[in-house]
Amino acid sequence: MRRDDPIGIFDSGVGGLTVTSEVMKRLPGEDIIYFGDTGRYPYGSRSPEIVGKFALQDVGFLSGLGVKAVVVACNTASSVALDKLREKFPLPIMGVIEPGAKAAVRATRNGILGVIGTRATIKSGSYNQAIRRLNPGLRVIAKPCPLFVALAEEGWTQGKAVRLVAHKYLDPLKREGVDTLVLGCTHYPLLRGVIGEVMGDEVKLIDSAKETSKELKSLLEGEELLNPRKEGGNYRFLVTDNPDAFLEVGGKFLKGKLTGAELLEIGRLKGEGE
Ligand code: DGL
Repeated sequence: MRRDDPIGIFDSGVGGLTVTSEVMKRLPGEDIIYFGDTGRYPYGSRSPEIVGKFALQDVGFLSGLGVKAVVVACNTASSVALDKLREKFPLPIMGVIEPGAKAAVRATRNGILGVIGTRATIKSGSYNQAIRRLNPGLRVIAKPCPLFVALAEEGWTQGKAVRLVAHKYLDPLKREGVDTLVLGCTHYPLLRGVIGEVMGDEVKLIDSAKETSKELKSLLEGEELLNPRKEGGNYRFLVTDNPDAFLEVGGKFLKGKLTGAELLEIGRLKGEGE
């Protein structure tokens, strides 16, 4: 692995572009290969076994392209597959759970934290475990908010319908008195405005995407893999289905930088990571 090799970032689809956008801002000299498994999206409603299998194939594919490190941008895949991935592949691999959990623990004042994510992420208990490893005295209230993903992809980030859904999901967390809320899904940063409105100014929102980009920089520094170039990173985007839809929806996530997407035959993933 060399400093000028690209970073691999993968997600179940377009959502990981929120993480990618933060990485591009923080590390503008790095080349990035983004892989969105749109052909098998979504991961968030699937079993841990299937997501684990997909994640192994995804990282197997990326490592075959010669990436120097992998970011598992998908909260669901990070929740259920990170340990397996690290066991299997001899390259630095980071997920989004740990960085988000650390920032949440730093932010809370009253010790009551909320976490929202897909059903699979919440069911895995990954954020609860990561938060409690850091401070066992904290109380964590976790809630799946699956409709937020569809709303973000639809571009519905404002308005009455979104506020209604947000109140339904978030009012119980507010009643519990959380003072910090982790946006534990790739799509939720797009709904930050409405989520913030419903939770109120006194609740701190933690964006796992932003925190992950900070930790990625430290990780690359620590491994002496940071690209010394200060700007001009090249980007490549690969998906397993419907590149046109990826470009259209992805434009909402990654403004201006998403210029093209290549289609990867899903069959090419068979045998990867096994
Ligand atoms: N990327 C997923 C996550 O962050 C959300 C979309 C999906 O369900 O695949 O959990």
